[in-house]
Amino acid sequence: MLDTSAENQRRHDLHPDQPVWLFGYGSLIYKADFPFLARRPASIDGWARRFWQGSHDHRGTPDHPGRVVTLIRAPGNRCAGMAYQVTPDVFQHLDHREKNGYLRVTTRLTFSDGQQQAGLIYLATPDNAAFLGEASEEHIARHIAASHGPSGSNTEYLLQLAEALRQLNVGDEHVFRIEHYLLASAG
Ligand code: SIN
Repeated sequence: MLDTSAENQRRHDLHPDQPVWLFGYGSLIYKADFPFLARRPASIDGWARRFWQGSHDHRGTPDHPGRVVTLIRAPGNRCAGMAYQVTPDVFQHLDHREKNGYLRVTTRLTFSDGQQQAGLIYLATPDNAAFLGEASEEHIARHIAASHGPSGSNTEYLLQLAEALRQLNVGDEHVFRIEHYLLASAG
């Protein structure tokens, strides 16, 4: 199975005493299973959240991957989420959690007060082996409804993300439309 954790451990030369900001836009918004020093709503410019990444290890299996979010370049678009200030030792755990195609990349975060800061994101680019790519939101909803993995159902991932975005007052038509189709088909 694809495992980007070794590459992630190699590519960043982080000083153990120097905290960094990590921006979460998917499960990292609602599942903070790691210690952090501070947490602040934030956004990144030029990106859009899309359910285009396959999940072989959390919300699906190698034979039936689920669909989870990654970021796609979208000039003019702002993607909102949650930023965490963490010490670099936390990446041991996070690199393992995000190993199915995500690479750590540096980007610029904007906090809700307008202040900006460099930070890291986990990005799964279209050239990674687990990438599933674009599909209609109806199709994605059906795919999610049928997928399960070691971390639970793919439906739970979608619903928890949609709820977390609502709590942050974040509009995301892609996520909310998929949620709508999924709930409508569930009756
Ligand atoms: C993230 O949440 O920032 C990365 C994708 C995921 O774990 O759902």
